[in-house]
Amino acid sequence: MSDTTSNQMWGGRFAAGPDAIMEAINASIGFDQRMAAQDIAGSRAHAAMLGATGIVSPSDVEAIRKGLLTVLSEIEAGTFVFSTALEDIHMNVESRLTEVIGTPAGRLHTARSRNDQVATDFRLWVRDQLDAAEAGLVALMKALLTQAEAGADWVMPGFTHLQTAQPVTWGHHMMAYVEMFARDLSRVRDARARMNESPLGAAALAGTSFPIDRHMTAEALGFDRPMANSLDAVSDRDFALEFLSVASICAMHLSRFAEELVIWSSAQFRFVTLSDRFSTGSSIMPQKKNPDAAELIRAKIGRIFGANVALMMVMKGLPLAYSKDMQEDKEQVFDAADNLMLALAAMEGMVKDMSANRDALERAAASGFSTATDLADWLVRVLDLPFRQAHHVTGALVALAETKGCDLPDLALEDLQGVHAGITEAVFEVLGVHNSVASRLSYGGTAPMRVREQVARWQETLG
Ligand code: ARG
Repeated sequence: MSDTTSNQMWGGRFAAGPDAIMEAINASIGFDQRMAAQDIAGSRAHAAMLGATGIVSPSDVEAIRKGLLTVLSEIEAGTFVFSTALEDIHMNVESRLTEVIGTPAGRLHTARSRNDQVATDFRLWVRDQLDAAEAGLVALMKALLTQAEAGADWVMPGFTHLQTAQPVTWGHHMMAYVEMFARDLSRVRDARARMNESPLGAAALAGTSFPIDRHMTAEALGFDRPMANSLDAVSDRDFALEFLSVASICAMHLSRFAEELVIWSSAQFRFVTLSDRFSTGSSIMPQKKNPDAAELIRAKIGRIFGANVALMMVMKGLPLAYSKDMQEDKEQVFDAADNLMLALAAMEGMVKDMSANRDALERAAASGFSTATDLADWLVRVLDLPFRQAHHVTGALVALAETKGCDLPDLALEDLQGVHAGITEAVFEVLGVHNSVASRLSYGGTAPMRVREQVARWQETLG
């Protein structure tokens, strides 16, 4: 006879219950209760299949079905009492099912193990997150498109090394992020397509001797097919790692954009004004309006990429098949998912609300000799100078403007001709920032015309 405190699920071979420390390190119910809906969906699919294959009688299956619905409604209503002694969501649900329907509950775990159960639940949970990430990315891309369309011909400085390089358009800069988030979107869809296979029915690791129908459960749960190898099915966490990798790259993009918003909203730049709704004040400095949302988005990559590294480390030394180490997968993924969704939503809100300061952008675009390349190109095109020589002449003119304390368009024609006699009045046309951006018509270039084409293409794609 086993001790009355030993576990009701496996108490048969145990003489005593676990030490309190063992219970604390072992239990996952504190976090895996987030997979309750997925756990019950998996159990319902499994029970229906046990009925359809004749493994369990129709009346027991019906009792299980009804009982699971009752348990689900208790969880949704918040009246369900989660027990640490029952370790995880799987045993909490099954135990409650037993209380609700009695003996038939004991048949639910036929031809199943917690190993394939947890793999199934977690896949369903991650799949939902991929869908949420897809929606968040599309919403953010649409907000960027709105900004790009409004400012397709607003000029701003383009930077390399954070030094003024060449004028670009606001729309072009926004569309660069649309391209980045579009790659994230494609990675999300790609990961979803690859992970959408069902581990259910792999049982503990070897499959089962019962005549189960894995295609039926796979279909019921919206999976494309059952996983082909039972050892792989219970020991694979690639889907979680892919989610974390995709999330990491996306968070990196969000962080780069957030960094730009922090810089752009500073008093020194004033390129954008962030809305009050996405800023905070200072408790001591009354003039302050801080871009906290952007800063926090910038920081989120830390925990998201940290989760990716942590799960890689958990998995890297595990022999096949299941090991309890794998229980450490969930908190990392839950935290990364929560923070990715929050960051996407906050960025969407900031982009929707922010206003670009068109005049400040244009002023900045015209400073820092931003049209020096246009001047060099003009010398090549009109005076037929070799580019290297044109570069040299332009450099001399920049130095001249610097000593005079003015910008290139402010130099007198005589000054220009003093450096190269062939320069004519016509050069001033290319020294203006609007002409500069309008001339960059190459495919993928910053010309407003090209930007509008890209905006239209993405509007059509995203609908
Ligand atoms: N709570 C466990 C996990 O998250 C469920 C699977 C437990 N399986 C086992 N054989 N102990 O991984």
